[in-house]
Amino acid sequence: MQSQNSPKVELKTSKDGSSTLYRPDLDEHYHSIHGAIQESMHVFIRAGLLAHEGNTINILEVGFGTGLNALLTMLHKGNKKVFYQTIERYPLEATIVKSINYPKVLNIPLANEYFKQLHEAPWNKDVQITPTFTIHKEASDLVLFTPQKPYDIVYFDAFGPDKQPELWTPEIFRKISESINAGGILVTYSCKGTVKRAIKATGMKIEKIPGPPGKREMLRATKI
Ligand SMILES: C[S@@+](CC[C@H](N)C(=O)[O-])C[C@H]1O[C@@H](n2cnc3c(N)ncnc32)[C@H](O)[C@@H]1O
Repeated sequence: MQSQNSPKVELKTSKDGSSTLYRPDLDEHYHSIHGAIQESMHVFIRAGLLAHEGNTINILEVGFGTGLNALLTMLHKGNKKVFYQTIERYPLEATIVKSINYPKVLNIPLANEYFKQLHEAPWNKDVQITPTFTIHKEASDLVLFTPQKPYDIVYFDAFGPDKQPELWTPEIFRKISESINAGGILVTYSCKGTVKRAIKATGMKIEKIPGPPGKREMLRATKI
């Protein structure tokens, strides 16, 4: 999908050799410059996906972006049956997506095919990619988004709270938290005080856990 008002992005390479994108207008990268794949594996896959015991799970992602979290989820979910809903306000142009090197760096059978299918999946509808993985990419703004499912895991991967404070508010976290099943978790790379307080105000149990290289800590919250 090409969006009329999509801001400019530049392709960069992070320190683990994997691509990331840079938004000059925000002076912000899509991932850690210390390693995009490394960060996504640490924050969303190991601390999120693999920390939840369910076998049939609904995931909500804030910010589909390059599709890295979705791709790694497909590759590391094991036998879990996953429904993956992701919200994106600025879908990337196909030319940018083609220049992203995740399948090559991962060098895992199926990575290339899955990456292609994730990006080619039409927006705003359920698309079954494998018998155990369905994605729903929603081209919308998180501020206006109404959660449709009870979720088990939330990957909160917006741009940083200093760059997009309007997405890290108590109101947004309350809206998301109300849609999380008991025992469900929310993970995010940010450990900022205001973020912690906004999540804490939802009543979720919050823990600071070690962050990926380049970041001392990250947050995981559990719905009680
Ligand atoms: C830190 S990047 C992470 C992207 C993605 N998870 C990835 O691995 O590439 C943040 C993403 O949130 C998207 N975004 C920014 N503002 C948004 C909004 N108001 N609603 C939904 N998505 C938004 C950006 O376009 C970007 O793709």
